[in-house]
Amino acid sequence: MTATPLVQLEQVSKAYDMGEAQLVALHPTSLRIDAGEFVAIVGPSGSGKSTLLNLITGIDKPSEGRVLVGDAVISALNEDELARWRGRSVGLVFQFFQLLPTLTAIENVMLPMHFRGTYSGERPSRARALLEQVGMAARANHLPSELSGGEQQRVAIARALANDPPLLLADEPTGNLDTATSQQIIALLAALHGEGKTVVLVTHEPELAAVAGRVIHLQDGRVVEDRRTCA
Ligand SMILES: Nc1ncnc2c1ncn2[C@@H]1O[C@H](COP(=O)(O)OP(=O)(O)OP(=O)(O)O)[C@@H](O)[C@H]1O
Ligand SMILES: [Mg+2]
Repeated sequence: MTATPLVQLEQVSKAYDMGEAQLVALHPTSLRIDAGEFVAIVGPSGSGKSTLLNLITGIDKPSEGRVLVGDAVISALNEDELARWRGRSVGLVFQFFQLLPTLTAIENVMLPMHFRGTYSGERPSRARALLEQVGMAARANHLPSELSGGEQQRVAIARALANDPPLLLADEPTGNLDTATSQQIIALLAALHGEGKTVVLVTHEPELAAVAGRVIHLQDGRVVEDRRTCA
């Protein structure tokens, strides 16, 4: 089977002007992630992991180089185009969950469907099915403040899946969770990968990265290792 490239970085760099000096968050990097991969990005704090992820989603603009995701040249899109593209093409999961505090679990999951323009009659049943999938159906009407950290993250993953994006990007999704809960979240991401999602996971923790089929190691803004395991 020939692999289809989903994410392509072509000599992409990111630098910040800090007065006199320049801070290079990512040195020129070329990278390809194929559809169906489960990639972990690891490395010490400040090594450029979030920068790399934010370049893939267009949250950050590259200083140089091109970012392609599927057919779209992300680095060339304006903010409106990016917002529309993100809404249908990527699911984002963050360390601090970022659920809207005044909305219940199911309302949080329905929100991206609203922005996407999904038929309103279809949203509740679809959101309920997603909550079911992440094991949170029984908490559908809870506010985020009425959920544990792990439960909030599962709702956030359901929200990331709302518009059925092919690509799931998670930046330290377990950074705020205990070990047992972290393992549940990683198992959930692995299950979603098993169902066909392409998953890119940023993590500090090598033992969590071990579930991925490929581990990209960053150090000081450079890829120092890119290793495929047996998966
Ligand atoms: N807006 C900014 N202005 C200046 N420097 C920045 C900016 N954003 C990030 N950096 C720098 O770029 C480097 C890479 O940051 P990045 O957030 O990608 O690291 P990280 O690997 O995600 O770290 P962590 O594990 O702590 O989240 C760091 O040295 C950081 O200080
Ligand atoms: Mg980071």
